[in-house]
Amino acid sequence: MKITIQDFIKKKQAKKKISMLTAYDFPFAKIVDEAEIDAILVGDSLAMVVQGLENTLPVTMDEMIYHTKMVSRASVRAMVVGDMPYMSYQISIEEAIRNGGRFLKEGGAQAVKLEGGRDTAEIVKALTKSEIPVMAHIGLTPHAIHRMGGYKVQGKTEEAAQRLIDDAKILEDAGAFSLLLEAIPAELAQKITEELSIPTIGIGAGSFCDGQILVLYDALGLFERFLPKFAKRYANLKNDSLNVLKQYKKEVEEGIFPGKEHSF
Ligand code: KIV
Repeated sequence: MKITIQDFIKKKQAKKKISMLTAYDFPFAKIVDEAEIDAILVGDSLAMVVQGLENTLPVTMDEMIYHTKMVSRASVRAMVVGDMPYMSYQISIEEAIRNGGRFLKEGGAQAVKLEGGRDTAEIVKALTKSEIPVMAHIGLTPHAIHRMGGYKVQGKTEEAAQRLIDDAKILEDAGAFSLLLEAIPAELAQKITEELSIPTIGIGAGSFCDGQILVLYDALGLFERFLPKFAKRYANLKNDSLNVLKQYKKEVEEGIFPGKEHSF
């Protein structure tokens, strides 16, 4: 049975933690789904970890839909959340609805995520009214990399913390079904979590959030350029893959592969 937005709310009420990971293609989404992770975000982080770009800004709607389709095909149980890329919802409400709708209609997702605080409240309201469930995303919002001057912890001053608390409430009132909190102090995330009736999903926001998310390639050791302090590397698939491929090369060069069992 597919995890729904009602299950998210029920988990918060029952004080059960929500698990999320990103995925970008069929084979990895299948593994994440089989691991019974509650939801998969087709994150625009794919710009960096899959496409090899410097930041998330260049990824397009068509590319996001392409990846969301692959993930949706593999996800039997996990809720699929499509990440709205930069400039897919900022220009007008009409474009936001059109693009948000594409994630559900073409991508097969059950919800979308979008970055931004109170300035996105009207967009969240309009999407929700159009039956497009929205996960809001505040704190470190990678679309704002140039304004923020890099990927930096947010909400560190009293004023900035209060602004994030207010943003959280505004987004809940606008209809968001959950709120992603990225790179903010744990104590602030706890306060936001306690004040909202919708679940918070943390990444670099401490252990008090209602759920956690990691970028899959950070968790598996497939993204080497940098590892944020908040990410935990559970495996080093880059090294494992490298060793396997070196073994293959050696076997080809030494005439060991293909063996009789691989020949006709
Ligand atoms: O794009 C992404 O992967 C994200 C992270 C916060 C998980 O938004």
